[in-house]
Amino acid sequence: MHHFSYRDGVLHAEDVSLAELAVDLDTPFYCYSTATLTRHFQVLKKAFAGLDIMICYAMKANSNQAVIKTLADLGAGMDVVSEGELRRALAAGVPARRIVFSGVGKTAAEMSLALREGIACFNVESEPELELLSTIAQRLGETANISIRVNPDVDAKTHVKITTGKSDNKFGISMTRAREVYARASKLAGIRITGVDMHIGSQITTLEPYQQAYRILGGLVEELRADGHPITHVDIGGGLGVPYRGTNDVPPHPDEYAALVLDTLGHLNCKFVMEPGRMIAGNAGILVSRVIHVKDTGEKRFIIVDAAMNDLIRPTLYDAYHEIIPVSEARNATLNSLADIVGPVCESGDYLAQNRPLPQLEPGDLISVMTAGAYGAVQACTYNSRLLVPEVLVNGPHYAIIRPRQTYDDLIGLDRLASWQH
Ligand code: LLP
Repeated sequence: MHHFSYRDGVLHAEDVSLAELAVDLDTPFYCYSTATLTRHFQVLKKAFAGLDIMICYAMKANSNQAVIKTLADLGAGMDVVSEGELRRALAAGVPARRIVFSGVGKTAAEMSLALREGIACFNVESEPELELLSTIAQRLGETANISIRVNPDVDAKTHVKITTGKSDNKFGISMTRAREVYARASKLAGIRITGVDMHIGSQITTLEPYQQAYRILGGLVEELRADGHPITHVDIGGGLGVPYRGTNDVPPHPDEYAALVLDTLGHLNCKFVMEPGRMIAGNAGILVSRVIHVKDTGEKRFIIVDAAMNDLIRPTLYDAYHEIIPVSEARNATLNSLADIVGPVCESGDYLAQNRPLPQLEPGDLISVMTAGAYGAVQACTYNSRLLVPEVLVNGPHYAIIRPRQTYDDLIGLDRLASWQH
């Protein structure tokens, strides 16, 4: 469910016409819906209302200040994976006690900042990380709350690049070593064991991998408690996948997810943390782009648009499917024929869609790449010296530019000549 729909023949974000936005802002641009972000958070919160849970939005999905403030104002905590994300969360006014810190490569500097700020928990991913955290905490006279991220070796049945819970992934500590590592943690100064953590992958569209993983996790919590560790919370990982193909691939409802958690882990009588990113931000955002040329080679129709792989890398990197529709409803009604939607970047991998049945599109037409709110703008770069595109947040009839378009002075101004070149 999202708030992008045709009104009077033009695609709107809530009450704002995207055709008008394109005039005001030029293209390409990302556009997010406050109503959709809010709805997703609230549906999730309601689904898990029977459990004592802290929903920590995984900021990696979309870390714009205005997006995280929208969610923080609704009570969301944040899952951060870098000093940059931690600083963004704090800058948006998220209380440190609602922040958890994930990631395999936390540095001493990152640990120090997080400890000084008093975050809720470090999700520790390795023994060297545990030892370093103990050293830093002692140095600062602080105590780090920790949960160990365990790797349950479960196949999340998602794209290989976003699978995180298999034994050959770099993430977490194997189940066979978990008890030993907890025993070590219990002896370390500056470390307070509070939980267990897990994350098996992203864009998970069935509950079965979660069911498998949670059963394993539940067993571990019982063993750890029997070993004398005070496990008071379980971090159940990210969220569910989102329906990139519209109604054709609808993932389970959050209610079913919550029922599974209750069923597999409810008996532990503990608090829960979850770190959803995509299911909150995914279809709360779109990327709007304009057709530059249409090139028919006789063999193939290429629709060349002004957004490219540097703006949205998901199709190139994960073979991801994003629905693409014209902003004009009349165009949408024209007869479909197969085409590739490609950008101006000089790589054959620069496409937003391939061999896709698409309506007739002409130079100047606007298109909307749907479900681009998560892992879109955050993964953008300036390859081919293309400017980072603006981000806009809509709220009913209002819109705000929440990140202006980069300028060429911004872009080139980052470079410096070497001293001998002056
Ligand atoms: N927590 C941890 C520790 C994670 O590694 C991730 C995602 C999440 C939470 C959020 O998972 P979600 O609820 O969004 O499924 N760039 C890729 C996705 C990478 C996800 C990595 N980790 C993409 O565009 O598909």
